[in-house]
Formats: sequence, C-alpha cells, structure tokens
Amino acid sequence: MAIERTLSIIKPDGVEKNVIGKIIARFEEEGLTPVGIRMMHLAQHEAEGFYAVHKERPFFGELVEFMTRGPVVVMALEGEDAVAKNREIMGATNPAEAAENTLRKLYASSIGENTVHGSDSAENAAIEIKYFFSDVQLFSRG
Ligand code: PPS
Repeated sequence: MAIERTLSIIKPDGVEKNVIGKIIARFEEEGLTPVGIRMMHLAQHEAEGFYAVHKERPFFGELVEFMTRGPVVVMALEGEDAVAKNREIMGATNPAEAAENTLRKLYASSIGENTVHGSDSAENAAIEIKYFFSDVQLFSRG
C-alpha cells in the first residue's frame, strides 16, 4: 500500500465538544500521522471556496453557516492508504448510518453536524491540502 496524504477537518461541533485530542489520538493510533495542523475560524469565502463543489446542493448555505460558526482544526494526515483509512475511521456521512466506534458514531449528532471532514480521493486530498497549507507548513516524518 502506498503512503499518501489526506485532509482532515475537525468541524466546529467537534471543537465545541472538546474532542480535538481524542480525535487526533485516534488518528495516531491508527497510523495516520499529522504532518500539518492549523486551528482557524473560517471566513465565509473560505468555507464557500472549500465546498464550492457542493454549491448547487440544497444544504450549501447551511453547510457554510455551520462551518463558519466557530473554530475548526485543519490537518494534513500522512500514512498508508491515508484517504481510505481516514474515511473508515470517520464512518458514514450520516452518523445514524455510521459503524460502531467510528468518529461520527462516537461524536456526531446529525448529517449536517458530523464532526469531521475527510478527503474523498487522493486527487482531491492534494487540492484540499493546498487550499490550507503551503509546502513549508508540512512536515513529513516518513
Ligand atoms: S460525501 O461523503 O462527501 O459524498 O457526502 P455528501 O452527502 O456528498 O456531503 C457532502 C458534504 O455536505 C455535508 N452535508 C450536509 N450539510 C448540511 N446539511 C445536510 N443535509 C447535509 N448533507 C450533507 C456533509 O457533511 C459533507 O461534508 P464533508 O465536510 O464533505 O464531510
């Protein structure tokens, strides 16, 4: 399996619930190493730009409003098969459908407030990581 990177965001509900440490610990335990971390309060244009692919969807306004409600923790994670591994750890988008012990099953309250974001492909991961990090802000330990 290839070493790859993925983008993870601990969303405002995760920060509000004080589970930043638990979520990062879980990633580290499962072999996903943070190589870049930023805590930031997204401006409306930053959230709209990040989720631009969803701009025609009915929930777009709600999603942007939620993601700008409070600070988030944005991370670049590195490890074997990082994109798929992160999505496995997160669980289904809708926490009601998420498998036991996934982050969304443990911490999320609804499909809107679902605690974590993870890139859905290696290609999108590269785009999403670039959206938040410059090369000098990433610290590979491989
Ligand atoms: S997926 O897994 O990315 O394909 O899921 P998808 O259903 O396409 O959802 C994309 C992102 O939109 C969020 N979402 C919602 N937000 C608010 N309200 C509703 N109803 C809703 N449905 C989906 C969902 O959490 C996804 O966010 P990210 O950050 O990409 O996980």
